[in-house]
Amino acid sequence: MTKTTAAITAVSGWVPPDILSNKDLEKMVDTTDEWIQSRTGIKERRILKGEGLATSDLGAEAVKLLCKKRGISPEEIELLICSTATPDMMFPATANIISDKVGAKNAFSFDIMAACSGFIYALTTGSKYIESGQYKKVVIVGADKMSSIIDYTDRATCVLFGDGAGAVLLEPNNEGYGVLDSILRSDGAGRVFLHQKAGGSAKPASHKTIDAREHFVFQDGQPVFKFAVTNMADVSAEIMEKNKLRAEDVSWLVPHQANKRIIDATARRMGLSMDKVMLNIERYGNTTNGTIPLCLWEWENKLHKRDNIILAAFGGGFTWGAVWVKWAYGK
Ligand code: ACO
Repeated sequence: MTKTTAAITAVSGWVPPDILSNKDLEKMVDTTDEWIQSRTGIKERRILKGEGLATSDLGAEAVKLLCKKRGISPEEIELLICSTATPDMMFPATANIISDKVGAKNAFSFDIMAACSGFIYALTTGSKYIESGQYKKVVIVGADKMSSIIDYTDRATCVLFGDGAGAVLLEPNNEGYGVLDSILRSDGAGRVFLHQKAGGSAKPASHKTIDAREHFVFQDGQPVFKFAVTNMADVSAEIMEKNKLRAEDVSWLVPHQANKRIIDATARRMGLSMDKVMLNIERYGNTTNGTIPLCLWEWENKLHKRDNIILAAFGGGFTWGAVWVKWAYGK
């Protein structure tokens, strides 16, 4: 009997309309458009504005579009996994809230937290539910309202992040398409370099934590950069070697969009030219869990059935990994 794999059968994305440009940031902190572009590749990012609007609203828009594109009712979704670093609340899971907002009444749902690697962790997890044969329609949503945890007086972090969401639908396939392999890694010792200091059980919210601005992203950029360059490049090369994929066999690299210099290093290590690399960091910045599905959504028309695609990410934790996908539709 042919093995059942989890094929991506639809992809969608959603970014809010409000733009925060490098020029806007020049008026807010001591920075320049030139510094931001040369160090990161970012020109502008999207910000979700509106009282009470949250990560689940970004995710819900992406899921509604996904269902419309595939021509299915949200009631057909059996499992919805949301990867996010900015949940609407500490609990319940943002996935539960998205399911409610889109009317996915028959889905069970939960969140995955792996910072910027969350989408590939969730994709790998979701694919196992399909491979088991128990579920036929699994939605993976990557969504973050990063602007809710960014200190817009800290020039080292506020230039990097934006808001956005993307989603994919997984369905069973018996012809060898879909999520074919993944290598996922984590190292909690890296937490000291990238974290949110307060608001969890270690340091619950208090007047003191608010005064100390400890509910925002803290990042020691240089060590994170070094670990990201090495690990994202190594794991991408490793998944190619493990599956005997040569550079010419790979149609696309879909890298997490944290910094263009990290992406360049990964592509070089894989032996890929930059025309095979999906890159939209200049328009959206780092949307954390949104980056990879947003790329797939924007490049969907260029993808062909049988394309070998490598997804790669690195993020807080540290967490990192790579996934090999054989694209299941298109000419
Ligand atoms: N504008 C102008 N100057 C700045 C800015 C800014 N926005 N930010 C920092 N600087 C200054 C610093 O103060 C420093 O000045 P100094 O030399 O006088 O002390 C100088 O620029 C260099 O700072 P570095 O931090 O060394 O700059 P670097 O070249 O490392 O770039 C960056 C910083 C872009 C953050 C980089 O380190 C990076 O990309 N790190 C990795 C990010 C990443 O991959 N994160 C993981 C995913 S995110 C997640 O998981 C949530």
